Amino acid sequence: MAKKFYVTTPIYYPNDIPHIGHAYTTIAADVLSRWHKLNGEKTRFLTGTDEHGKKIQSAAEKQGKTPKEFADELIPKFKDAWKKLNINYDRFIRTTDKEHEKVVQEVLKKVYDKGDIYLGKYEGYYCTACEAYYTEKDLENDCCPIHKTKIEKLKEPSYFFKLSKYQKKLLEFYKKNPEFISPDYRQKEIINRVKEGLNDLSISRTSFDWGIKLPFDKKHVCYVWFDALLNYYSGADGFWPADVHLVGKDILWFHSVIWPAMLLSAGIEPPKKVFAHGWWTFNGEKISKSRGNAINVDELISIAGVDALRYFLFRETPFGEDGDFSKKMLIERYNNELADKLGNLISRVAALAEKYELEKTENKLLKKLKLKEIEKHFEKIEIDRALNEIFAFIDNCNEYVQAKKPWETHYKKVLYELSDSIKAIAILLYPFIPSSSEKIAKQFGFEIGYKEIEKPLKENKIKRAEILFNKIK
Ligand code: MSP
Repeated sequence: MAKKFYVTTPIYYPNDIPHIGHAYTTIAADVLSRWHKLNGEKTRFLTGTDEHGKKIQSAAEKQGKTPKEFADELIPKFKDAWKKLNINYDRFIRTTDKEHEKVVQEVLKKVYDKGDIYLGKYEGYYCTACEAYYTEKDLENDCCPIHKTKIEKLKEPSYFFKLSKYQKKLLEFYKKNPEFISPDYRQKEIINRVKEGLNDLSISRTSFDWGIKLPFDKKHVCYVWFDALLNYYSGADGFWPADVHLVGKDILWFHSVIWPAMLLSAGIEPPKKVFAHGWWTFNGEKISKSRGNAINVDELISIAGVDALRYFLFRETPFGEDGDFSKKMLIERYNNELADKLGNLISRVAALAEKYELEKTENKLLKKLKLKEIEKHFEKIEIDRALNEIFAFIDNCNEYVQAKKPWETHYKKVLYELSDSIKAIAILLYPFIPSSSEKIAKQFGFEIGYKEIEKPLKENKIKRAEILFNKIK
């Protein structure tokens, strides 16, 4: 039976158009999904939108719309952005989907029947922009530590989930599953916080109504995070448990503590891994709506095209750490790496191959490609390191051209080795730069599939083609 792979992105709040933060995780999920599909695995990639809660309700009210109307208008913007970025998700889930709402109610009922939900009164702070609760000591000058905006004080009846009861079980779970939280340094932070103790979580509100009703008390609507996290399960279509949830570091707590506790309570198997990536700044500054520097997807694409963007985001910064985005760096990498290293290799080899034909031989050059390492990096979601290995091999190929000078000696065998190596490169780069890889495959006459890497190149009629990556001034 083919191996399965199930990857998710966070579901985004549709209160604004998608920006670099949304695009980053979604492209990462696409890279992983394409990699596993390339390997012939049964792959599932889920993304979508998080539509309930006060944040969406207030944004809709400001425009005189119902929350559903408001979300309906923004959803096409997300789908359109993902299409432009060449993202091949398998399903787009919305938390307003009827079958999702049903699953949330079923899970709430299970957790309630288990005795893990009780009625109390929430008294404390809440940031609607975060859709998160804060304690007095979290605040900075009475403001939300993330948004720096005045924080609301709530006092209302609320149902609580007995998160505290799961402290020990979670610690045992982390111990048994040492790869559950990645990267490693983030795992340590989370475990230390869990060891300090867990407060029960308020999971319902009565002061507004835009949400899923609690099945055991219709006056309450479910807390938006309890509802949203369940999308991964309700949208799994037989693929549960997820192999990896990709999330930003700011929402790791929800995914690595609250989420597995909810599942343990409901008797559902937890996901295999939660991977937290870092945050992008823009020219050294924090990206935020108020600063007006939340670069949208169209702007991102306009700099050097879709493939260049997809490439840059994983080349510039180790996946997991923070990075700084600048147009200058993107253009530099595009010119120096995609155009000079990869593009030149392809156009030189194609021009010579068109002239001299190839002679089949054992591809000794390919032995320099560290395929096993690349596989391992993908397994560990070290996307940038996989890319580094592929580019190290591109360097090997360019050195080989220099050393063998196939244009002086008409080395048909050398050209074969180089063309066959280009096949491997294009296949391995496919998850990152799918449309460029498809063009290379057409030009050199091979199929894109993992097994093709080690099959000898068949085609003997390679043609020059248009320049793949035109340099940008
Ligand atoms: N709706 C919740 C997620 C629920 S998942 C069950 C949410 N939505 S969001 O629209 O705010 O999207 C947040 C995602 O974008 C997070 O993963 C966050 O880390 C990411 N980013 C937002 N700004 C970012 C950067 N500047 N850089 C990288 N990612 C950032 O949270």
